[in-house]
Amino acid sequence: MAKKKNITIFFPCVGRRVVLLNSFRRTARQLGLTTRIVGADSDQFSPALQCCDRKFVAKRVSHPGYTREMLSIIKREKVDLLIPTVDLDLAIWARHRTKLTRSGCTALISSPKVVQICQDKRLTYEFLKTHGFDTPKTISARQALSQNRPQFPCFLKPWDGHASRGNYIAHNRDELRFYSKHVPNCIVQEFINGQEYTVDVLVDFNGHVRCTVPRRRIEVRAGEVSKAVTVKHLEIMQLCQKLIQILKAGPGIITIQCFLTDDNQVKIIEINPRFGGGVPLAIKAGANFPKWLLQMWLGQNPKINPTRWRQGLMMLRYDEAVWFQK
Ligand SMILES: Nc1ncnc2c1ncn2[C@@H]1O[C@H](COP(=O)(O)OP(=O)(O)O)[C@@H](O)[C@H]1O
Ligand SMILES: [Mg+2]
Repeated sequence: MAKKKNITIFFPCVGRRVVLLNSFRRTARQLGLTTRIVGADSDQFSPALQCCDRKFVAKRVSHPGYTREMLSIIKREKVDLLIPTVDLDLAIWARHRTKLTRSGCTALISSPKVVQICQDKRLTYEFLKTHGFDTPKTISARQALSQNRPQFPCFLKPWDGHASRGNYIAHNRDELRFYSKHVPNCIVQEFINGQEYTVDVLVDFNGHVRCTVPRRRIEVRAGEVSKAVTVKHLEIMQLCQKLIQILKAGPGIITIQCFLTDDNQVKIIEINPRFGGGVPLAIKAGANFPKWLLQMWLGQNPKINPTRWRQGLMMLRYDEAVWFQK
């Protein structure tokens, strides 16, 4: 096989992922690859879009022409590696992944079935229960309202939600009734108290989990983590590895969210089959996901020590800006 020397990486809905994009660019260069980054976003002023070599101001994901526009960019730009970073278009990429692979574009996306399980919180709950993972009890709003003694507080959210939209805590029956009317596709969960963790899991192209990095969330701003710290919590790492292997998610990074309760129970609340917003912390701590994924794309089998990353590394984010001349 001829040695690959060039790579074109495509980030659809690239948004604000400047740090992630730059780490792919930097590591691709270090691996001796001539790199071209293509980005698309519906907002012409997306910060990360300005950092791309080719920029496309594209239709919104909800537009019926979105898929066709994206596929035509992939074809025209001869994209080698596709990296989705938002929930909105994961189902589209999952549907097209086999076709894309055949045409020479590797997509870091799970199968349609896995994406469906992850994006429907009712199915996530069923999956977790079936396989014996601890997770907050989840029922429909109607079931919750018909109970004689519902447990309070309880947590309300849409089963197809993302970015913490439509999330409420109900403390009594009146609040439960009020919010359940206002939250579309509402489900009601047992409210979990504890420390929240986000876990980055690297899955290779053979479906094997290669590295797992828990980060404890300290502060969240506008739905994205702003303060966090890496924690080598072995039980969380083992649970997440087992979960991903049973789910058969990947390839790429899968981001799992869970709570560690005061009595040390790990309760899984969400599985996002994509790069999470806080992944720069895991990368900085030494889990060099961009490098390992690029090496795998090159057909190499990188040696990965799954616990060789820095424990206790803190990330404190602040506002940075991208400057460009209009
Ligand atoms: N059952 C729960 N108990 C307490 N807090 C929760 C619960 N479910 C979710 N949360 C909080 O709400 C946030 C968003 O919920 P999540 O299930 O991740 O949905 P999404 O990110 O898709 O909006 C979580 O990061 C967590 O802080
Ligand atoms: Mg979430």
